[in-house]
Amino acid sequence: MQGADLAFTRFSETHLSQLMGWIDSEAQCRQWGGPRFRFPFDARSFTEDCCWRELPSFVLEDAAGCAVAFGQYYNRLNCCHLGRLIVAPAVRGLGVGRQLISRLVAQGCREFGLNRSSLFVLKKNQRALALYEKLGYRKQIYPEPVEWLDMCHYLVAPAKEILAATNSSTDKVGK
Ligand SMILES: CC(C)(COP(=O)(O)OP(=O)(O)OC[C@H]1O[C@@H](n2cnc3c(N)ncnc32)[C@H](O)[C@@H]1OP(=O)(O)O)[C@@H](O)C(=O)NCCC(=O)NCCS
Repeated sequence: MQGADLAFTRFSETHLSQLMGWIDSEAQCRQWGGPRFRFPFDARSFTEDCCWRELPSFVLEDAAGCAVAFGQYYNRLNCCHLGRLIVAPAVRGLGVGRQLISRLVAQGCREFGLNRSSLFVLKKNQRALALYEKLGYRKQIYPEPVEWLDMCHYLVAPAKEILAATNSSTDKVGK
């Protein structure tokens, strides 16, 4: 899927049922949303656990206005920290994940004046890990105690490297 075909836009309630429809098992839900995300969910519990009203939350939409990917960011330890990344099952493996990360990092780094990005990934999520390492993310020791950290890798990358790997503009990223 080409970047020009997809619009990067704020997540809104109109996208909620599409996003919920991409997660159909407890295992997928934990992999995506973390150990405390309730499953099965309804719109209310999903909204509370996903925190989309509180955190900057975005989708990529196709030309028909359907959401095909979702992600969030916030400032964590002076990195643009990405969370809850997911691509619609029907379009995985087509480069949408790359585009999503590129757009989130460009926008989040600009918003917070940051030049690095971070994320957590479950050690067993090899597909996601492969994508992140291709984009320049590298494993680091997380500097604070977190109870679920033994299940995850903490990854960090310079924003410029991610944007270069995804052929995006780097000129607006924080110095
Ligand atoms: C992880 C995820 C976001 C990746 O999105 P995607 O759109 O499929 O990824 P892309 O098409 O951009 O693929 C980029 C890279 O991912 C890896 N990848 C993609 N499809 C893969 C597959 N079927 N098997 C293994 N690796 C694969 C490859 O390294 C690929 O690089 P390449 O294009 O040079 O071969 C998506 O698989 C997903 O939504 N997974 C479920 C939710 C999840 O696990 N989120 C991550 C939480 S940390």
